[in-house]
This record gives sequence, C-alpha cells and structure tokens, in this order.
Amino acid sequence: MPHADFRSFLQTADEAGLVRTIRRQVDPLEEPGCYVKLMFHGLPESERFGFRFTDVSGSALPLATAVLGASTRAYALALGIAPGEINNHWLRALQAPLPTRLIQSGQCQENVLTGEDARLDRLPIPVWTPGKDPAPYITTLTVLRNAETGIQNVAVYRTQVTDAGHVVVNINPGRQGYDCMQSSFARGEPAPVAWVIGAEPECYAAAVANLRPGFDELTVAGAMRGAPINMVQAKTSALQVPASAEIIIEGEILPDAAAAEGPFGESAGYMSGGAPKPVARITAITHRNNACYYGLASQMPPSESTVLQSLSNAGVIMHMLRHEAGEERVVDAHIDLMFGGGAAHIIIAMDPVDREHVRRVGRLIADHTPVKRITIVDADIDIRDRLELDWVMSSHYNPDRDTDIISGYPTPMDHAVLPDAAGRRIGSKVVIDATRSSPMGPGSLPPRKLMEQALQSWGQDGLPDVHIRGRLRRRLERG
Ligand SMILES: Cc1cc2nc3c(=O)[nH]c(=O)nc-3n(C[C@H](O)[C@H](O)[C@H](O)COP(=O)(O)O)c2cc1C
Repeated sequence: MPHADFRSFLQTADEAGLVRTIRRQVDPLEEPGCYVKLMFHGLPESERFGFRFTDVSGSALPLATAVLGASTRAYALALGIAPGEINNHWLRALQAPLPTRLIQSGQCQENVLTGEDARLDRLPIPVWTPGKDPAPYITTLTVLRNAETGIQNVAVYRTQVTDAGHVVVNINPGRQGYDCMQSSFARGEPAPVAWVIGAEPECYAAAVANLRPGFDELTVAGAMRGAPINMVQAKTSALQVPASAEIIIEGEILPDAAAAEGPFGESAGYMSGGAPKPVARITAITHRNNACYYGLASQMPPSESTVLQSLSNAGVIMHMLRHEAGEERVVDAHIDLMFGGGAAHIIIAMDPVDREHVRRVGRLIADHTPVKRITIVDADIDIRDRLELDWVMSSHYNPDRDTDIISGYPTPMDHAVLPDAAGRRIGSKVVIDATRSSPMGPGSLPPRKLMEQALQSWGQDGLPDVHIRGRLRRRLERG
C-alpha cells in the first residue's frame, strides 16, 4: 500500500526500525554528513537505517536523511511493496502513467514566506562531505518546466547554497532540466524552478530514473501509487508542485548569471572539480505545519543517491528491453547499488535464443543506458546472489570468447577515463556473456529425492534448521 504522504512513510520506517533519532544538538555543516558515511560504509546493507536529527543548530526544523535509500528494504518499504516486487512495480507503472491532478490548496502551503522572509538559512541544509564540500547543498526534487510544451520535469540536481537568497544549480547540457531552463532563456525570461522536499516517496523513485525526454516523472509516481499526484500552483511562478510536500523552495534561474559550483564529493567516489553553473534567486519558501527537512544523502558510493538510482533504473532498463525493444526473454535486471548516473554494473537474467541474442541485448544496454559493465546470465540464476554470480563467472564464462569491449561512449563522470584534447572523456563498455553457451552436463549435486530424504534424518540428528530454498532449490531443480 502507498503511504499517505512523506511523513507517514517516515513514521512507518521508524516503526520498522529503519530510522534512528538523534536528539542532541548537531551542526549541519559537520555531523549529519559524517554520520551517513559511517552508516553506509560501516554497516552491511541489511543493517542500514536512516536518520532524523531533531535539534539542528541554526534551524527550528528537524533534518531527516537516508531513510528512502538506506537499503533495498527501505526503498521497497517507501513504495509500499515487497523487495522482490520492485522491478515488476516499475514495469506496471511505466506502461500506464497517470497524469497529475491540480487541486486548489495543499498542505505544502500552510505557511508561506516571501521576500526577505524566504531565507535558506532557516532550513537545516547539511554539508554532505564535511571538510571538502565548500557549502551546504540542497539534494532533493528539482522541478522545471519546458516553456514551449508546458511539460514539467522532475530530477535531482544538487544545488549549492551561496547565501540566504541565492543558490548555484548543477544543471548541465544533456539533462532535461537544462532544456527546460534554456526554453525560458530563449524567450528572454528567467527559468522558474522549485525544490520539493518531502513529497510522496514515489516522486523520489521516479525523479532519479532516466526516463525518455518529455516524460513527466510524476505521472509514473502516480501510476506507482495507483492515484494521481495532487499538485498545487506555486506561489511565485507558473510551476505546479506536489501538494502534500513538507517544504517547497521556489526560485528562478537567472539568464546570463553563473557562479562557481563545487568541488563536491560525487557518486564516482572522488571530488568534482569546481565549474561555473547557473545561479538562481529564491522567491518563496512554503511549508507544512511542523515540517521536516529531508536531504538525499550524497555521495561517496554506496549512498542513498546510488541505491535509489540503481533500484529505479533497473526497472527502467527492463522496460526498455521488454516493451520498447521487444526482448521478452529478458526476465530480470539488477544494478549493483553503486549507480550514480553512470559507470555501474548491470546484471541481466535472460533465456537467450543463442549467443548472438545475448550480444544484441548487451549492445542495446550499452548504447541506450549509461552503465559501463553488462553481465548477462541465464534466467535461472539469482542475479542478486553474489556467490551464485561468482560461480557463474567461474564455470560459464570464457573471457576471450564471451567478452565484447565497445569503445566510443561519452562518459563525463568516469574518472578512469582521461579527458582528450577537447576536454571530453570518451570511454568504453564491456558486455560479458556468462550464459551457458556451451553444454555443461548435469549439475554435481545429488538428486532432489535423496537430498529430501537426508533432510529428514538431518532433523532427527539435531542439526540446525536447513531449508531447500534459494540457490539450493534452483540447483536441485536444474538436476
Ligand atoms: C542525490 C542526487 C544528486 C544528483 N545530482 C545530480 C546533479 O547535480 N546533476 C545531474 O545532472 N544529475 C544529478 N543526479 C542524477 C539525476 O537526478 C538523474 O539522473 C535524473 O534522472 C536526471 O533526470 P533528467 O533526465 O530529467 O534530467 C542526482 C541524483 C541524486 C539521487
């Protein structure tokens, strides 16, 4: 079941033990950023949780982070589904997007601050890589609108706070938000922008997915919920914003104004270089009563950012393969939870016709997505089980026969690729065919019947509970 709104999700996550509350006063410029790194890098995925800091110096509002994307379990809970259902949930939503619905008033505007009162320094905005990032960053849903088509775009573009009324937005050519911004500039107008904090969890899952141009992400979020996302008119622009959100920051990106953005601790695991990016002026802050600020924890992977992007984009790639390219023999896809927009590893389970078929699917993914490593295995392999994958690589994969290396892909985020004379990083990708392309013969486990008989005496011998499930069940079924 979907959660009524973001705060109900936070409460459910708390009850499920997925949130830790810190009540002593913390400095947003230091502790939250370090805490999320300790959590992500010090704990196995199954033990991760998010944070709520209730007393943040300089702000009356609490700060929450890492609750949506601490783990696969947290992401599934955010969507109100079981972890094994994530890809199917995505496939269903992408096939039947639901338009948003404009309503007259919304809780996100219970309090409206404009003019001198719209001050970012009232919000508990953290520094994500303390000691290295130059400033606090807003890491949340960023809404822009194409001035030509009227279609809105929602993505996450990190936004550096420069003072209480100004920010620098890391919005770059190739991004749909960039095209929206340019469409306003082409008319000689500033580009309206809104940062949405604490909208329905599905809005976050959809915003970080690489959807095709002109596709309003919130229509997919609505389909996931089985009901349209309610929107209200922003107070200072023509944008529409999710009505139940905790906080909306409204602004306008100024034509012909740029300022230094970064360096920032990025998803590649290294600091970005600083570069000039567009400047925006804040025009209003609206919020619910008792609002909670939420920042997506960024960025040394794995982070909340890479977990969200991996889980959302696996479903998008499944949809592209099955429903746009007609590759219905693809049955599952998993991205390694390190996907920060590129350079990650995707594992595909499929039932191929022949080796050429595997190559074709690999090439489709290489050409149409930013992932760098593509491993394709048979449909009966559990692509989320690292031990099973290592077995497949050892037993099914012959490197010189089964590896395609394809060069010539622009990979702006890949630190392993040196810039060329024109400053472009042109990298390569690898497709690994780890399907059983040569006959393997029978598997080397006793037949299922014998194993089941042994399991009966096993219990009588007082040995610990063992079940025939998962990898063992599949191998026995394979014979
Ligand atoms: C925490 C976080 C920060 C991100 N920061 C940026 C960013 O600064 N610039 C960017 O282009 N993409 C960034 N992304 C990735 C985009 O949000 C994502 O690829 C999105 O699908 C792009 O949408 P678009 O194709 O509509 O532009 C970030 C994602 C997350 C989760």
